[in-house]
Amino acid sequence: MKPNPLPAEQTHESREDAVREMFTRVAPHYELMNWLMTAGQDGRWRQEVIQRAELRPGSRLLDLGAGTGDLSRQALRQTPGCLTLAGDFTIPMLSKGQRKLAGSPITWAAMNALRLPFPDASFEAVVSGFLLRNVVDVQQALREQYRVLKPGGRMVALDTKIGKANLYSPFVRIYLRGVIPIMGRLVSGQGDAYRYLPASTQGFLRAEELVARMAAAGFRQIDYRVRMFGVIAIHWGRK
Ligand SMILES: C[S@@+](CC[C@H](N)C(=O)[O-])C[C@H]1O[C@@H](n2cnc3c(N)ncnc32)[C@H](O)[C@@H]1O
Repeated sequence: MKPNPLPAEQTHESREDAVREMFTRVAPHYELMNWLMTAGQDGRWRQEVIQRAELRPGSRLLDLGAGTGDLSRQALRQTPGCLTLAGDFTIPMLSKGQRKLAGSPITWAAMNALRLPFPDASFEAVVSGFLLRNVVDVQQALREQYRVLKPGGRMVALDTKIGKANLYSPFVRIYLRGVIPIMGRLVSGQGDAYRYLPASTQGFLRAEELVARMAAAGFRQIDYRVRMFGVIAIHWGRK
């Protein structure tokens, strides 16, 4: 296996540049690859994320690391009338979402999850899909989400995680390290970018560690559920 394309010794800025550059390259085939990689399951997880965000018509929702906006779209399906803001620092991902969801009442904005351009207590909910694994400082990302939430507001995060070893572990490893990069190369010509997925998953926090980080950021009523043989986790908490 090739080394992680985002080596740890890089500075935060150059690692962010590398993440942005990688998502710029995968943007054209992003949804198709997502669908293939998750065997079409990601739609169900997105429904669960939005359900756990406890939105009401008029709720202000921040979809952070929104990419092409699939969580925002799901939020509007489940709660028409919520006020959805999709933020990301990779413009080609946002532009693709904007074209795909033209006519949807979503506000699209460029922003860095580590320095959110909002005053304290701006949103009823902050959701993210596959963002936290990619940020260079998870604690700062959680602190920012906490800061911009209103008291009582919900944060919900969907991401990949390393599961405890179980019967499925060898198959999951083969899938992550072998099948996904090959699929990425065939579908998008970006095998390297899709080698980053297992590398970043293996470098990411265990589910219990993320719970501890959320608590350290100030969240309470924290819990999580795992999905897809323990490879996916949905975490939530309240301000
Ligand atoms: C795997 S994609 C997920 C997109 C979408 N949330 C979804 O569920 O399909 C991760 C996104 O996070 C964005 N991202 C990574 N680090 C970020 C940061 N520090 N600030 C804003 N966006 C970031 C990337 O640009 C990318 O669009």
